[in-house]
Amino acid sequence: MNPDKRVAPSILSADFARLADQLRTVDEAGADMIHVDVMDGHFVPNITIGPVVVQWIRKHSQLPFDVHLMIENADDYIEPFVKAGANMISVHFEACRHLNRTLNLIHSLNCRAGVVLNPATPVEWLEDAFTDLDYVLLMSVNPGFGGQKFISHVLRKVEKLRFMRAQLGLSFAIEIDGGITLQNLRDVVVAGADWIVAGSSIFSAENPADAVRRMKEILKEFTIV
Ligand code: DX5
Ligand code: ZN
Repeated sequence: MNPDKRVAPSILSADFARLADQLRTVDEAGADMIHVDVMDGHFVPNITIGPVVVQWIRKHSQLPFDVHLMIENADDYIEPFVKAGANMISVHFEACRHLNRTLNLIHSLNCRAGVVLNPATPVEWLEDAFTDLDYVLLMSVNPGFGGQKFISHVLRKVEKLRFMRAQLGLSFAIEIDGGITLQNLRDVVVAGADWIVAGSSIFSAENPADAVRRMKEILKEFTIV
């Protein structure tokens, strides 16, 4: 069975001075999980938040926290993020030398494990990790910033990954992150994406709750009942 369709607002584009309010807004509008972008200024040219912030916002949301680590030495930070309240943790293929060990570490802490691929990293390179992971996150922008333009050739990677999953009879989820808007959402879901991360198209919208509701409506068109 294919994974359920989900909307994951990325708080990177939220107002950090009122994160609790922003979390409530997207939660009430029907968001399925909260995407948390962690950047270290080394793997990507930007710095965001650490476990302390996750721990504080955890008190303001019941939704699963989908933590996207854009950092080097991820193994050192996995346990602190789980303790802070992460339910799912994804690590970059490009930043992990011992991917199998890292995924086992995430699972040993009762957390869902994902692997992220940058736009130029082929999906075939994950073939030997498919059975170790719960989801694959395909970046549709170069990681580091919100509000960038969607890289459309990533759609071919989504299709290829969906095909490989079906061939192998596996059920990991396909998540996509970067440049997703109400305008291109149908295209990414048609290609095979299950979980949709959206930052600026939700939090920079005039009405973030409305943006979440409209995304959910579109996803409903693809839900098989
Ligand atoms: C980029 C982050 C994304 C970012 C997406 O490195 O991984 O999660 O928040 O932002 P938008 O949806 O604005 O492209
Ligand atoms: Zn992200």
